[in-house]
Amino acid sequence: MKVLVTGGAGFIGSALVRYIISSTPHSVVNVDKLTYAGNLESLDCIASDKRYAFEHVDICNYKELERIFVSHKPDVVMHLAAESHVDRSITGPAEFIQTNIVGTYNLLEVCRQYWSQLDTDKKSLFRFHHISTDEVYGDLPHPSEVNDEKLPLFTEETPYAPSSPYSASKASSDHLVRAWMRTYGLPTLITNCSNNYGPYHFPEKLIPLVILNALEGKELPVYGKGDQIRDWLFVEDHARALYKVLTEGKIGETYNIGGHNEKQNIEVVKTICSILDEIAPSEARNIKSKEGKPLGSYSSLIKYVTDRPGHDRRYAIDASKMSTELNWQPVETFETGLRKTVQWYLDNQEWCENVQSGSYQRERLGELKGSN
Ligand SMILES: NC(=O)c1ccc[n+]([C@@H]2O[C@H](COP(=O)([O-])OP(=O)(O)OC[C@H]3O[C@@H](n4cnc5c(N)ncnc54)[C@H](O)[C@@H]3O)[C@@H](O)[C@H]2O)c1
Repeated sequence: MKVLVTGGAGFIGSALVRYIISSTPHSVVNVDKLTYAGNLESLDCIASDKRYAFEHVDICNYKELERIFVSHKPDVVMHLAAESHVDRSITGPAEFIQTNIVGTYNLLEVCRQYWSQLDTDKKSLFRFHHISTDEVYGDLPHPSEVNDEKLPLFTEETPYAPSSPYSASKASSDHLVRAWMRTYGLPTLITNCSNNYGPYHFPEKLIPLVILNALEGKELPVYGKGDQIRDWLFVEDHARALYKVLTEGKIGETYNIGGHNEKQNIEVVKTICSILDEIAPSEARNIKSKEGKPLGSYSSLIKYVTDRPGHDRRYAIDASKMSTELNWQPVETFETGLRKTVQWYLDNQEWCENVQSGSYQRERLGELKGSN
């Protein structure tokens, strides 16, 4: 099977491409524009494999997409290319509208033309798998706001209520994919996943940002009170789940993917600090406080900063459809996955330096002018 993956140089896309090339017999065509978030170094370990090909292309370029389908003749498509950072979507939403909505529309149209001309066998095997987020559902009640012991979870039936330009653009793309299924019969699959973490994560997101700032003795910014809850999933568990859905999922269905790991942001930050205290103590790295004194625990770097505008309070996924229908469960617990992640960042400082050599230097994004 030839799998066309869009966004394969990004965080989740690269984990998926590494998984397909190293653990399955299939081949991959990776279509990526290489924005600041796309890094071919994340694919170094499989890049020379004969089953891997790369196309440096923007999914907003219709003609180039047509060329790729004609020349590579993929059997299935997995669509991950997107602008993915909420803070960036607040500062500059235009790219999110272009890539996430217009780009998805282009890809759907090119797929529809291509699929309609396939012979019967190939046509019945074709799939368009759209990779999306749980953020399309908006947020859930926070334990501090309700007395109920049983807090609700996002299911595949939860109505859409996106809060940020990012999640609204992803919700729009999900709607387009469903419409192409209903109207044209394109064989689609949609997955909505919770927050991912793991190796090769661009250091603008919470977990890598905290690890790298801590190792340099920089402040660890925590938005608001840090009590926002996210449901964390190790990225390699997500890659396996995506492959399961692609190969065993039912056409037209949506699957929620999550890790059963609800954690407050502040808990995540404190856990990273305690892992670092244990495996890379600040004394051994000669890290000092602002006052020039020995730092002690990395947790002394925690700084509470203004909350993100419109910040969702809680996300939590009911992933029971994935386990009952597709027999998928995450392998990593939050503790084992986080420990692997911290160790990976310690061992791969060169990757971290290379991906940050462009314009992004871990500065705060997504603040509205005039907000305090
Ligand atoms: N990161 C998460 O926690 C998470 C959770 C659930 C779902 N998702 C979804 O999974 C997908 C991948 O997320 P990620 O975290 O790997 O994102 P990422 O930002 O790390 O990577 C996105 C990739 O898409 C590429 N890209 C961006 N615009 C493009 C364009 N116009 N044409 C071609 N390529 C383009 C980038 O170069 C990059 O390689 C996204 O659709 C995202 O919405 C992410």
